[in-house]
Amino acid sequence: MQIVDWLWLLHPALAVVLVYPLLGMVLRLAQQTRQRRLTQAKHPPTVGRDHADLGKWLAGSVVAIVLLAEAVVIATKNPLPSFEGGGSRLALLLLVLIGSGVALAALWLVKRPIYRASFALLCWVGVMGLGLQPEVFRLSDNPLSPAFWQSHFWGGVGLTGLMLFSVACRPEIHKHLRWRRLHVSANALAALIFLAQGISGPRDLLEIPLSWQKATLYSCDFEARSCPALAPGVSPS
Ligand code: HEM
Ligand code: HEM
Repeated sequence: MQIVDWLWLLHPALAVVLVYPLLGMVLRLAQQTRQRRLTQAKHPPTVGRDHADLGKWLAGSVVAIVLLAEAVVIATKNPLPSFEGGGSRLALLLLVLIGSGVALAALWLVKRPIYRASFALLCWVGVMGLGLQPEVFRLSDNPLSPAFWQSHFWGGVGLTGLMLFSVACRPEIHKHLRWRRLHVSANALAALIFLAQGISGPRDLLEIPLSWQKATLYSCDFEARSCPALAPGVSPS
């Protein structure tokens, strides 16, 4: 494996070792929080706070691995000196990347509802802005086609939005039953998308060749699922 292959591996590796273990803890604490409130089950009084605290880290790590994947895909499509659009486009995209990180950090710190909503939205727009660049592979951008619903990218964007929404409305979930119900419904959907990402991610990993194999494999016709025959005795490299 070359450096570029290791860079592409960072995102799936962090999803496996960081995001999904956190998700397990957040889900277990969510179940205990609900049980404690509805059935007076004997769970420690801290389960609600622990759920929300770990939820904040879950949301942060989802945003981080998505930004990382997008940055790696965009930066490694061509060698940096021949970056499409030149230095000015590169600088602009870098600014969006940093801006999204700053918006996430600000979301963690600010208290007023309007600021929480604005920073969550800014961060989400940044994630989407980077993802919509031509370098980032998306199965389909048409919600009416089945490929859109199987897209790892659009699943990731949806999940990021739901996570940021939960962090942004944390005080409201505590205060109002209506928000608590909205939170549970939104995150039941998020749990399903986590499951879908756990399937579409490894599928994409299977489909992406190592960098030294790309020249040969991309001469295949992916629609017709056929590859040109190799000349006998010729090594693919
Ligand atoms: C897949 C992710 C998540 C799921 C499935 C989930 C589910 C739940 C459930 C079932 C409850 C209990 C509701 C009730 O009492 O009826 C809850 C409470 C709560 N959740 Fe989440 N949640 C998730 C992520 C998050 C995130 C990312 C945050 C952001 C900080 C968060 C913040 C909260 C808060 C503040 C409460 C109220 C806790 C309390 O009563 O003290 N959750 N969640
Ligand atoms: C929380 C779960 C996950 C989210 C939100 C997520 C989101 C994303 C996003 C937005 C992209 C960039 C668009 C693209 O190139 O398709 C991406 C790329 C990718 N994801 Fe995920 N993903 C998750 C989990 C996984 C898992 C579990 C794997 C595999 C084990 C995986 C494998 C990949 C691969 C191979 C790419 C291509 C680019 C790269 O590796 O940097 N993802 N993901």
